[in-house]
Amino acid sequence: MRDKMSDRRKIIIDTDPGQDDAAAIFLAFGSPQEVDLLGITTVAGNVPLSLTSRNALILCELCNRPDVKVFAGCDRPLSRPLVTAEHVHGKTGLDGPTLAEPTLKLQPQHSVDFIIETLRNEPSGTVTLCTLGPLTNIATAFTRAPDIISRVREIVSMGGGFSEGGNITPAAEFNIYVDPEAAKIVFGAGVPMVLMPLDVTHQLLTRKDRVARMRAIGTAPAIAMVEMLEFFERFDIEKYGSDGGPLHDPTVVAYLVKPSLFDGRLCNVEIETASELTAGMTVIDWWHVTDRKRNVKVMRSVDADGFFDLLIERFARI
Ligand code: BDR
Ligand code: CA
Repeated sequence: MRDKMSDRRKIIIDTDPGQDDAAAIFLAFGSPQEVDLLGITTVAGNVPLSLTSRNALILCELCNRPDVKVFAGCDRPLSRPLVTAEHVHGKTGLDGPTLAEPTLKLQPQHSVDFIIETLRNEPSGTVTLCTLGPLTNIATAFTRAPDIISRVREIVSMGGGFSEGGNITPAAEFNIYVDPEAAKIVFGAGVPMVLMPLDVTHQLLTRKDRVARMRAIGTAPAIAMVEMLEFFERFDIEKYGSDGGPLHDPTVVAYLVKPSLFDGRLCNVEIETASELTAGMTVIDWWHVTDRKRNVKVMRSVDADGFFDLLIERFARI
């Protein structure tokens, strides 16, 4: 019989928490048989870097995971001023529950150095990068150490949009919009890549019945998650008139735990960087109307009930 733990995917979570980033991190914490979390690297995005780093530590502490290493990364995009999203996530990025300041400390190493070192030290083709925020850390690592690019097993990324358009501008999704130059480097690197765009995440609504099932878990992390989601969803409920807010980032970890939940297509994706009007747009050649390289598996459908069943089952294990 094969040892289940030996099938675990080694992952680095690159993130800008964010309530939905928190849900992704919780899902990883609850899925130790499928994912081996080598470290969490933070980046500026939803809120400035000092807060995304603080928030990552808070989440580890909340889930009693002092063993998880957290590294602070880039504090601004490659060549643009930082755009943040307090209008969605609140002032701290994790508004909703009352959360104590963390006692856990950041690792002294910079995120970019940790990513480079890990990819060089682990066997080639074994480390998956899970990106939940702007792609600044990953692009910086690829530019500084091009030798690591061919060593990445896969990048699984939340970002972009196809028929759903954008959420921060009509054309662009937030993670790509914040640092389109970084996205261009990462999407063009030649690493196998899976993309979870808004087309998927907008199908995953934090409906009342789903949130009630989370609350019924009754643990401190589950209750804090419910309070985070109840804060987070108010913005999108008002914007879309939907039954709950869309849950973006946990799709990345869910894909690694249960890929059969998702369906998509390998196609060419290019990132717009020049236009002021459409900066950060993911130009997705879904219909293969060009012969440009098919560089990304773009997901478009998801089993929403199956996704929430997984989330709730794994949150209960934390
Ligand atoms: C993405 O932007 C952030 O606000 C969320 O955390 C998610 O990563 C959705 O567009
Ligand atoms: Ca995020």
